[in-house]
Amino acid sequence: MVIGYLQRKASWEILLKVSSGSFSDQALEKVLRNYQFNSLDIAFITELSFGCIRYRKFLDLWIDHIAKIAYQKQPPKLRWLLHIGLYQLLKMNKIPFSASISTTVEVAKKTDLKELAGTVNAILRNAVRKIEHNKYPKIPSDKIERISYLESLPLWLVNQLVKWFGIKEAEKIAKAFNKKPSIDLRINSTKTDLETLLKLLHENKIKAEKIKDLKNAITLSSKTRSIKNLPGYNEGFWTVQDRSSQWVAPLLSPKKGEKILDACAAPGSKSTHLAELTNDSAEILAVDRSEKRIKILKSNLDRLHLKNVKILNFDATNLCNFKPNLLSYFDKILIDAPCSGIGTLSRNPDSRWSLNQDKINQLIGLQEKLLENILPLLKEDGILVYSTCTICPDENNLLIKRFLEKNKKIQLISEKQILPNSNYPGDGFYAAVISYK
Ligand SMILES: C[S@@+](CC[C@H](N)C(=O)[O-])C[C@H]1O[C@@H](n2cnc3c(N)ncnc32)[C@H](O)[C@@H]1O
Repeated sequence: MVIGYLQRKASWEILLKVSSGSFSDQALEKVLRNYQFNSLDIAFITELSFGCIRYRKFLDLWIDHIAKIAYQKQPPKLRWLLHIGLYQLLKMNKIPFSASISTTVEVAKKTDLKELAGTVNAILRNAVRKIEHNKYPKIPSDKIERISYLESLPLWLVNQLVKWFGIKEAEKIAKAFNKKPSIDLRINSTKTDLETLLKLLHENKIKAEKIKDLKNAITLSSKTRSIKNLPGYNEGFWTVQDRSSQWVAPLLSPKKGEKILDACAAPGSKSTHLAELTNDSAEILAVDRSEKRIKILKSNLDRLHLKNVKILNFDATNLCNFKPNLLSYFDKILIDAPCSGIGTLSRNPDSRWSLNQDKINQLIGLQEKLLENILPLLKEDGILVYSTCTICPDENNLLIKRFLEKNKKIQLISEKQILPNSNYPGDGFYAAVISYK
């Protein structure tokens, strides 16, 4: 199938769903169910729709530059379709301008934007004239505002990045938020090994390679979104897990026979990793308060054929009170805390628009409560790992610093932080390893 108007229409439908509250990946999945696209189409649709979601602020700036009506006053359906057209013109330089315009106009003609097809055509042609004459929108000279427009991030977030890391690093991080995320797999060492899986993927013409510095990790370089159709999925040979997240479970040095609590476990990337690292011979309790996510955890355990992970759908902040038999019970505890996810903004294109400081403050309260209430479940000499996929210091090192000051019986063994970076394909993350003195 040629990449034509249908792929643009599907991308536009994804934007409509996201604008009414869906997460990007769920919107993508739902829209794709209505079509029969191949993996190249899906890669194109993902790039276009996720790119538009990431670059919303930048594309709105362009609407204000070229249209008579400001972006806030555009009918939303038209605004999102203009984003589809503009993103192709401004960010997908392999597509000829004429193809970008004609296919986008065709979407208008074949949907309820029919009456506005002429307007879409005129605005996009105007954009091309501006691009060809280097007439770009004016961007404020203030450095922070520039980053906010050019990298399309809310101003409050850029201000925070600058406060946390300084302007130079903030700019690097902001750029990394717009990179295409990698697709990394973790090999299920209880079922197969790295060489065998690489061979299987290569035999199926899927480009994949080993990830340096990680034991059982490979990255896919073929354009693919239909993960579940890749060889070895049904057999449980691998799990999709970002390379940074693959650092976490090994920090616990899990051993056969140990009692391990994964307190915020669903959908189970790390519980299953812990089980694999112990050859499914540790006593792992995976707790999560979300029933929906627990179901996914269960299906992951089944698919990976892991038998020694017990599941508990429960609020981990209440374990102490309701399960006193678990006090001082665990050799190792992982708290992979609910967090703002600022390290994963490139993977979750809509989050930058839904996140705000109030939400972060609420999360900090929950993170503190989790740490305080779960610590009594750890044995003396036990190890606790606290991890997040954010780079916000208030959820990471500063939180841990306060926790250590309050609890004199514990000490910090190590901390690891990865900041998003355009040269590093993985997400940003943080982990602290803590032990009883
Ligand atoms: C970052 S996610 C965990 C990801 C998981 N560790 C993995 O690797 O697949 C955070 C999880 O914490 C859960 N959660 C939030 N508050 C909780 C609480 N009070 N008790 C237990 N789980 C909680 C959420 O439902 C969510 O699944």
